[in-house]
Amino acid sequence: MTQVIFFSYSGNSKKIAEIISKELKAEIFEIKTKIKLPYIIWLILSFIPFISFPIKDFEVKGEIIYLCFPKWTFNCPPVTSLIKSKKLAGKVIYLVISYGGWRVESYAESYAKFINKNGGKVKGIFLIRRGEEYKIKDIINNKDNNNK
Ligand SMILES: Cc1cc2nc3c(=O)[nH]c(=O)nc-3n(C[C@H](O)[C@H](O)[C@H](O)COP(=O)(O)O)c2cc1C
Repeated sequence: MTQVIFFSYSGNSKKIAEIISKELKAEIFEIKTKIKLPYIIWLILSFIPFISFPIKDFEVKGEIIYLCFPKWTFNCPPVTSLIKSKKLAGKVIYLVISYGGWRVESYAESYAKFINKNGGKVKGIFLIRRGEEYKIKDIINNKDNNNK
């Protein structure tokens, strides 16, 4: 079973997740934090590598997971929290990262390594620039010859 899991602050990763879920007829699930924080606090936390932030508990049901989330400086704490929980262990993961325009490759690579270290198997990385969410549809339908 394929499951789409996303975290989104301003809606772009959510849009991408919805397209994937529709294309693959996969269940979709939103990562929610236990407390909502203002932008400035997220910005500060995003500078601290590997810091996590508590998320509401949920079950990772799929064997194949599309994990959609934004590029946040060095770290997206709610996603880091999910990875540290080891709930992605043994799962095949496609990373789908929404970004504004800078240094997304190294971020994606470091998340891929971190997931693999915590037992997941990252099989593909898709980088989607803000405003180009529609592109994910073609990318996932041709994913064997597209790794970006
Ligand atoms: C705290 C924070 C840090 C960000 N840092 C970066 C960054 O380093 N590089 C980048 O390209 N975009 C950065 N962005 C922009 C987001 O990656 C971009 O707007 C993305 O589409 C947001 O996805 P969302 O709507 O799912 O939250 C940052 C946004 C936030 C809120």
